[in-house]
Amino acid sequence: MTESPPVNGLPIRTLAEVVENRAEGGGGFCLTLSVPGWPGALPGQFVMISAGACAAVERWDPLLPRPMAVYRGHRPAEAGGTTEVQILFKATGAGTRLLAETAPGQRVRMVGPLGVGFPPPGPDQRVCLVGGGTGTASLYEWALQCARTQPVSVLLGARRAQELVGLADFEALGVDLRCATEDGSRGTLGRVTALLEPLLAEAEPGELSLYVCGPTPMMRACSQMAVRSGVRCIVSLENNMACGFGVCLGCAVPMTEGGFSLVCRAGPIYDARDVDWAGLP
Ligand SMILES: Cc1cc2nc3c(=O)[nH]c(=O)nc-3n(C[C@H](O)[C@H](O)[C@H](O)COP(=O)(O)OP(=O)(O)OC[C@H]3O[C@@H](n4cnc5c(N)ncnc54)[C@H](O)[C@@H]3O)c2cc1C
Ligand code: FES
Repeated sequence: MTESPPVNGLPIRTLAEVVENRAEGGGGFCLTLSVPGWPGALPGQFVMISAGACAAVERWDPLLPRPMAVYRGHRPAEAGGTTEVQILFKATGAGTRLLAETAPGQRVRMVGPLGVGFPPPGPDQRVCLVGGGTGTASLYEWALQCARTQPVSVLLGARRAQELVGLADFEALGVDLRCATEDGSRGTLGRVTALLEPLLAEAEPGELSLYVCGPTPMMRACSQMAVRSGVRCIVSLENNMACGFGVCLGCAVPMTEGGFSLVCRAGPIYDARDVDWAGLP
């Protein structure tokens, strides 16, 4: 087998062919795309996908693409070949509902990979990943990579068991996996922060690195808990984006030290202390 070239993290613009679009329950879908000339992605990077398949007639409605984490498919394509890239998404608004209707053989516009990857934990640190809802999709490949070198705990939260994203894949990793659901249908009854609290309380100074992705209120809460415990916390922000490459300014987030940062270019990964959480909706 030929070894894949290294990931350079630089984006391409292409038409990707839908291989499979599988309903996962709870309004979730797993979209598998065959991407020609895919340069690979670093865990934490994302793609912009235009909603709705390209048919015989060019369509530009809705005009704006949607940012989606690369769930699987971080290896580059071999020269002249394609790679299968998987996206996990929930059909919530106009664009994702249209994406849910795409069928095998159709093609979607895609730009990526975009943004920066997760910074590594310290060599002797335990890693704790906290995922809420579809935010979990950003964390799977990172869990896989970290688990090769250090102990990993994964805490997943959702409203109900059906909405626990990628659960079977995380189970297959063999890491310490804990779940919380707001209706108690799987794991601990309540929010994922209830699982994080004891882990933070037990952590020795410098022992733990925390990576969080999910709804803003969840990331804000995890960030505050981590700061109180003196634990390093990295977040992957999931705000709206219109262009994905620093032109529209629609993704600007306020920073603790003043000014704004463009999540599509400087992010989506940030040290939680750098984000002015009070200024986020
Ligand atoms: C880095 C990143 C990774 C993500 N990964 C995933 C994932 O893996 N799975 C998943 O399900 N979701 C993911 N999301 C969230 C996902 O992008 C949104 O849920 C999705 O855009 C909603 O689209 P919609 O068509 O359902 O909703 P709609 O409400 O129809 O559309 C939302 C869209 O409106 C536009 N828009 C609205 N307000 C603004 C504004 N202020 N500035 C600019 N544009 C605006 C944007 O195009 C935005 O994407 C991710 C978000 C980010 C930033
Ligand atoms: S999404 Fe347009 S500047 Fe970031």
